[in-house]
Amino acid sequence: MNPIDFLIEEHNLISRMITLFDIEIAMLKERKGDHCFIDAAIDFFKTYGDKTHHGKEEDILFRELGQKALSDEHRKEMSELLEEHVQAREKIKKLDELNEKFTNNDATVQPLLVEALEDISKFYKLHIEKENTHFFVSARNYLNDEEWEVMMREFADFDRSVIHEKYKEMIVEMEAKNA
Ligand SMILES: [Fe+2]
Ligand SMILES: [Fe+2]
Repeated sequence: MNPIDFLIEEHNLISRMITLFDIEIAMLKERKGDHCFIDAAIDFFKTYGDKTHHGKEEDILFRELGQKALSDEHRKEMSELLEEHVQAREKIKKLDELNEKFTNNDATVQPLLVEALEDISKFYKLHIEKENTHFFVSARNYLNDEEWEVMMREFADFDRSVIHEKYKEMIVEMEAKNA
């Protein structure tokens, strides 16, 4: 499998999470939101969307492409995508803060949660569309078959490390709270 197709598969899973947002948004509008769903969505976006997916894009794909003679247009697109990852992290952080209030029985945040989920949904749909139909299409031409193969192996190593990193971070946080 080509790393680009692998990333597109990951986009498909992210899109399925975004589709699930619609049910939660409808529930929140009736003031029947589920903070557990939002918690699970936050974990999904932090661990899968950011660490695993953006992680491979930034640390491996974009790093390799950055060493190639990219056209000005493609270099600009790549830096826009990087900037969007920063924005995505901020949006998830905001959702996390709102959901903490909701979990602590502040029901008044439900309309704000609707806004936050709609914003993330719109944002990811555009980001994924931009990568799938523009940047990734051009990116395929900058590396040869052997380079893609090497990258695919690096992807596998990267993915393997994520779970260890996630739970190590969790223990460090828990220890800090108890210190
Ligand atoms: Fe991305
Ligand atoms: Fe992506």
